[in-house]
Amino acid sequence: MHWTRKTAIIAAALLLATFVSKAVAQSSQPEVSKEKNWWRNAVFYEIYPRSFADSNNDGIGDLKGITAHLDYLKELGVDAIWLTPCYPSPQVDFGYDISDYEAIDPKYGTMADFDHLVAEAGKRHIRVLMDMVMNHTSDKHKWFLQSRLSKDNPYRDWYMWHDGQGETATDKGQVPNNWQSDFGHSAWEWDDKTRQYYYHKFYIQQPDLNWNNPKVHQAFKDILAFWLKKGVAGFRFDAITTLFEDPQMRDEDVLHDKNGQPFKNAYGDTALNDTRTNNLPEVHTVMAEMRQEADKFSTDKYPGSRVFIGETYLPNVAELLKQYGTFEHPEFQLPMDTQLGFINKLDVVTFRARLEDAEDDLGNNVPLIIFDNHDNPRLDARYGDGVHDTDIERVISTILFASRGASLFYYGDEIGMKTTPPTRKEDVKDPVGITGWPKEKGRDGERTPMQWTPGPNAGFDDAKAKPWLPVPPSAATINVQMEQGSPASLLTWYEELIRLKKTNRAFFEGSDTMLDTENTKVLSWKREAAGAPPVVVALNFTAEPQTVNLVGPGLPDGALNTLLKTPGGPSTTSLKAIQLGPYGVYIGQLQFMISH
Ligand code: GLC
Ligand code: CA
Repeated sequence: MHWTRKTAIIAAALLLATFVSKAVAQSSQPEVSKEKNWWRNAVFYEIYPRSFADSNNDGIGDLKGITAHLDYLKELGVDAIWLTPCYPSPQVDFGYDISDYEAIDPKYGTMADFDHLVAEAGKRHIRVLMDMVMNHTSDKHKWFLQSRLSKDNPYRDWYMWHDGQGETATDKGQVPNNWQSDFGHSAWEWDDKTRQYYYHKFYIQQPDLNWNNPKVHQAFKDILAFWLKKGVAGFRFDAITTLFEDPQMRDEDVLHDKNGQPFKNAYGDTALNDTRTNNLPEVHTVMAEMRQEADKFSTDKYPGSRVFIGETYLPNVAELLKQYGTFEHPEFQLPMDTQLGFINKLDVVTFRARLEDAEDDLGNNVPLIIFDNHDNPRLDARYGDGVHDTDIERVISTILFASRGASLFYYGDEIGMKTTPPTRKEDVKDPVGITGWPKEKGRDGERTPMQWTPGPNAGFDDAKAKPWLPVPPSAATINVQMEQGSPASLLTWYEELIRLKKTNRAFFEGSDTMLDTENTKVLSWKREAAGAPPVVVALNFTAEPQTVNLVGPGLPDGALNTLLKTPGGPSTTSLKAIQLGPYGVYIGQLQFMISH
């Protein structure tokens, strides 16, 4: 942490609490997962169940497939898995259109399979988090089926119904306003039976719930309790900033390009701002209420805290800070820092600024670092150059695990899976790609089957079934089997970084201070904790070799013990001359303690 005045005051106020929690943390290493605050330095792994492992060979991954690979996740060092939705669903948006929140989709298995997964994961100190979609349901959910029956149905006001503009008995008129779906075109869908429009921020089959209705709040508190009683460790809240809309229904503003002209987005629609339909302040009240409910489960029967992760795409760190809530009314422990993870360009200055934001401007909260998920092209497509992709993925994963905070990554990133989008419109499965083709090819490219082996179907199934998405040709060389135990593989790199994060004091409790801050080619920082020599991390963001001198205030010259460096990269022995190959990484620890 940077010792700005603000953080110093907060730290002083919490000195006693910190002291006590550190003492506990030390005595119980390495079983971090039993701690109440197990999530503070945790490694989270996102699983897209449909694509992870197919146990019954129907081409679709399932819960038993996940259970069969828990030893792999334990070996990797994962503390918790987040499952994207595996509830019953018509699968229009592959599970994000939920038709029953308290069951398992038969495609993925049974409730017994789920309980077994949680139990087996628990034996390996791996916790399970569910995905919670509160903005919308499927149009096949019983609430919506009721809601659309009549204007006086008790479920009518569970959703967002509105008259059209200029509507008459025979004419549906115009949509209520210009609001658009994130998945393209108007966010309003006409329903002929009751002659009104309903609002959907996402797909037509995903009607938005009305969060001004207290019954909706209670329904979700019950759903959370249902899963918490089953022993889940928390939730990742989907599209959480979209729960509320402007009650006055004002139009969104049109976005203009640099010549002052309105422009079209990939769907061919006029691009709009989203200030009327996104990140309205009422969301905080809902999250504080949900958190209060979940915190009731932090008891002897349910050891450790229940953790709330937020899908929080926000414009700046001040908005991110609000997602943590307050001491009296906590919200998320870990809202995603998408400002850092989706820079999508290897630019040292921007990375340094965002890491400083996370260190200085989140108070005493823990950042959640994340670079990838099931909605964005994988790392190769956003950060790679096609030549040094593996080395660049080492750079990114070092930021992920060697910065202060919790880390979240997406299945397959640890082996370097490549984005493999469909090449023909008729092969597209994702509604985003169906609407947006060819400009927007959708998200199939980052959801291809996990690559376990170089064999048929990459070991995703027995190779008799056709996987729901094709296995990328790169599976021949990028797969778990070939990378496991290979010293130079990306998988080994992930394992080693995670081991450092868990076992090196500077990593599991150290502050984070940027070094060499004028450098535009190499990003460097220091991790430092009381009672341990500081650790330095240096990352080359260029394709040319670089050397950096990190001697400076609080860091006298001295010999270094190398903790980790890019395989085959140049050797470093002193802080004065850290050598880095193209996109090279160096992590080293001083051989002596620094007295401050
Ligand atoms: C979130 C999910 C995405 C889904 C959308 C609608 O952004 O991550 O996959 O399509 O919400 O639920
Ligand atoms: Ca299956």
